[in-house]
Amino acid sequence: MEAFDLYSPAIDANPFPYYDVLRERHPCYWSESGKLWILSRYHDIVQAARDWETFSSSQGNMIDELPGRAGATLGTTDPPRHDRLRALSQAAFARKNSEQLVAPTLEIADRALARICEQREFEFINDFSSQITVGLLFRTMGLPERDHAEIRRKVILAVSTDKSVKGRTAEHIAAFQELSAFLTAEVAARRAKPTDDLITHLAEAEIDGDRLSEREVVLTTATFVMAGVESLSSFMSMYALNLHDYPDARRRIVADPALIEPAIEESLRFNTSAQRFKRTVMREVALHGETLRVGDKVALAFGSGNRDWRKFPDPDVYAIDRRPQGHLGFGSGKHFCLGSQMARLVTAVAMRRFLERVPDYHLTVDEIAWNSSSNFRSPAALPFAID
Ligand code: HEM
Repeated sequence: MEAFDLYSPAIDANPFPYYDVLRERHPCYWSESGKLWILSRYHDIVQAARDWETFSSSQGNMIDELPGRAGATLGTTDPPRHDRLRALSQAAFARKNSEQLVAPTLEIADRALARICEQREFEFINDFSSQITVGLLFRTMGLPERDHAEIRRKVILAVSTDKSVKGRTAEHIAAFQELSAFLTAEVAARRAKPTDDLITHLAEAEIDGDRLSEREVVLTTATFVMAGVESLSSFMSMYALNLHDYPDARRRIVADPALIEPAIEESLRFNTSAQRFKRTVMREVALHGETLRVGDKVALAFGSGNRDWRKFPDPDVYAIDRRPQGHLGFGSGKHFCLGSQMARLVTAVAMRRFLERVPDYHLTVDEIAWNSSSNFRSPAALPFAID
C-alpha cells in the first residue's frame, strides 16, 4: 500500500499517523495516487512556500485544480501578477473594517443558538458554523439570502474529490462552473449598480489607474466564497471538536474566555482545515536524495509541518497555552491567507457566544464521517447534544 494515498478515506479521517511516516522516512515523498511530491517537514515547507520562483503557484494551488483558476486569481499566480492582485484585493478588503463583522456575527450566532438550545440536539456545521460563515459572507458580498443553501452545496461539491476516480468528477466541476456563472451575473449587476459591498469594492479597487478585469473579479470573489464558506466553517467545526475531545481545555476556556484566542491558534496548528496546497517546480531541485524536475507537482503539507517535532515539541499534544508561533494553519510566504484576520475574529466572536450558551456538549455518534478532499480536512457532520 502507498504510504500516503491522497484519496484514501483513512487519510481524510486522520492524516496524522501517515504524516509521521512521511516526515521520518520519506520527507520528500512521491505520491503515486496524486502524481506529485509531498513535502512534510516544517522547514522544507516554509522554504518552498518562500521560494516562489522555484515552487510556483501559477499552474494552480489546488491539488485537483478547477477549470479557469490557474493563473487568474491571487492563490494561483506568482509575483509580479500576484502582488498586483493581492494589493487590489487588500484595498477592497480594507474598505470593510473587520470590527464591523462583530455585530452581524453575534446576531447570526444568537439566532442559531436560540434554535439549538430549544432543540438540545443539533448538527454543529449545519446549525451553527455554516449559518455564521455563509450568512456573514453573503452580507459582506451583498448576495441574496435565498441562495445560501444552494451556494453552500455548490462550494462543498467544488472542493470535494472522489476516491474512485482519484480526482474531481463532472459533478464537482459543474458545481464550480455554476458557482462562477452565478458570481459572473452578480459582478455584472454590481458594475451596473454599485453598492457598499465587497464585490463592488473589488470591481472598483484601483491602484495607479490599474483595476481588476471582469474575470479576475469573478475568480477572486469565488476564492472568497469558497474560503469563507468552506475553510472557515470547517475550521470552526474542528475547533468545536477539539474542545469536545479535550474537555479540560474547554472548561478552562469557559471559566476564562480570554483563552479563546490562544486556543484558536493551537487548533490552527493542531488540525487546520487547509491541510495541503500545490506548487509546480520551475527549476530542478535536489532534496533528501530525490530530484524534483521542472514541471513536477509538489504538495506542501501544512498540516504535517504543524506536527513536526523539530519545530513544535510534543506536537501531538493539544495544549492551549502553547502559543505556536509560526504555525502553518494559514499557509506561509507570499500566499499567506488573506482572510486570516477575519477568520480569527469571526471564530473568536462566534465560539465565545456558543460556549456561553452551550458550555457542555457531547457527540451523539461513535464515528465521525469526513469529507473527501485532496486539499482540505473537515467533518461532514458533527451531531452534538447539550449536556
Ligand atoms: C480558518 C479558516 C481559513 C483557513 C484555515 C485558511 C487557510 C488558507 C491557506 C493555508 C492559504 C494558503 C494557500 C496556498 O499556500 O496556496 C490561504 C490562502 C487564501 N485564503 Fe484562506 N483560510 C481561511 C479563511 C479564509 C477566509 C475567511 C478568506 C476570505 C474571505 C480567505 C481567503 C484566502 C485567500 C484570498 C487566499 C489566497 C492568498 C494569496 O494567494 O495571496 N481565507 N488560506
